[in-house]
Amino acid sequence: MVTRQLPKPAELLELMQFKKPELDARKRRLDAALTIYDLRKIAKRRTPKAAFDYTDGAAEGELSLARARQAFEDVEFHPDVLRPAERVDLSTEILGGPSAMPFGIAPTGFTRLMQTEGEVAGAGAAGAAGIPFTLSTLGTTSIEGVKAANPNGRNWFQLYVMRDREISYGLARRAAAAGFDTLQFTVDTPVAGARLRDKRNGFSIPPQLTLGTIVNAIPRPWWWYDFLTTPKLEFASLSTTGGTVGELLDAAMDPTISYDDLAIIRDIWPGKIVVKGVQNVADSKRLIDAGVDGIILSNHGGRQLDRAPIPFRLLPEVVREVGRDATVMVDTGIMNGADIVASIALGAKFTLIGRAYLYGLMAGGRQGVDRTIAILRSEIERTMKLLGVSSIAELEPRHVTQLQRLVPVAAPVAAAAETAASRPRAPRATAGSASASAAAKTAAKGDAAASRPAKPAASRAKA
Ligand SMILES: Cc1cc2nc3c(=O)[nH]c(=O)nc-3n(C[C@H](O)[C@H](O)[C@H](O)COP(=O)(O)O)c2cc1C
Repeated sequence: MVTRQLPKPAELLELMQFKKPELDARKRRLDAALTIYDLRKIAKRRTPKAAFDYTDGAAEGELSLARARQAFEDVEFHPDVLRPAERVDLSTEILGGPSAMPFGIAPTGFTRLMQTEGEVAGAGAAGAAGIPFTLSTLGTTSIEGVKAANPNGRNWFQLYVMRDREISYGLARRAAAAGFDTLQFTVDTPVAGARLRDKRNGFSIPPQLTLGTIVNAIPRPWWWYDFLTTPKLEFASLSTTGGTVGELLDAAMDPTISYDDLAIIRDIWPGKIVVKGVQNVADSKRLIDAGVDGIILSNHGGRQLDRAPIPFRLLPEVVREVGRDATVMVDTGIMNGADIVASIALGAKFTLIGRAYLYGLMAGGRQGVDRTIAILRSEIERTMKLLGVSSIAELEPRHVTQLQRLVPVAAPVAAAAETAASRPRAPRATAGSASASAAAKTAAKGDAAASRPAKPAASRAKA
């Protein structure tokens, strides 16, 4: 039998605790995002389709990206109990310097397309959070502009070795002069991957106004307001005459780059040098033996070779081969701080985020990137506490099992018995285991190479 009473006003008042409404719409929007996927949803709402798809999309059937994300979902963590972890220290050492957390911002091309603050927002947010920021060769803010946005933090530069070598060398020298401490030499882009969404959207650089883009702009007035009222959207370090992204990449990149180029860049670059886009054990070993300061296991966020190996899956074997002291980093598919924790536990020294940063940028400029970093920070911290670990150094392979979904399907028992005699059995997998376009030309801006007229790419084909 329940005893009832009249509600007491004082008790009712206690229940009625209204929060002060947040008047800043951007902050309200961003605070409501609890995960990177939430930021992605906001980004999609606020960004024109062609720009969102350029960021969100990958190559061909986009299988590499989906598999990479699935591999992170297929992590099983093994916590220790009764281990006090009241405070966790997320800081780490990477490539001769500190980082407040075990991740940095990956290089991304054409970043101001996503949101006009672009690299300035990324570099500023990274600097404030104490993590490194990487500027792409195909960035939309100059080397010096990034330095100004992140004057006291760590800036890294990503280099594409282009057909016109002097452009690349000039950029590397400029980045070194501006105090960038690490060079990422990207090697997974001999030709452009087939970004089918871009083709279907008719996406080109610079963006063209068509009837479709105008219709698509109607519900996204702020993006267009930013686009039309801020400095022209263009590559900051290269000048081009336009074309699709694929045409621009094919015109600029040299498919014949080799270890000789690595040796030349090492001579030019005074700081640390890491090779980005490594995708097997043998290359990892060869590069580490050749004395590079680190490697980044990456398939370019699934934007180049579709069905490429999942970088996170390569980690255990690569680390075993090159040794736990070598600087092995990983990217592709990171959408949660727990993905970062799992990577570190399996031997990565550091991780990079591409889209997770860009979703934040599209969702709310600089504040959006701050939100991305805050979400990842709290996820890393919580995962470590739940594992019973209080520092990055304490994370070990025993904390993680990689579960595997992509194994050959076993034949049903009856059918297997019928066919056993006639067919050999499939092996069982075990867990753990351009041509240049005349439409597009490139040249360096703001250095000696800029004064030379850009030759049509076709006539610059390597001897
Ligand atoms: C829109 C976009 C542009 C990119 N541009 C470059 C680039 O210019 N140079 C480069 O080395 N990698 C580039 N990447 C790859 C990233 O550096 C990184 O390897 C990848 O985004 C990691 O995967 P994630 O997006 O799943 O985190 C780009 C990625 C995206 C999404």
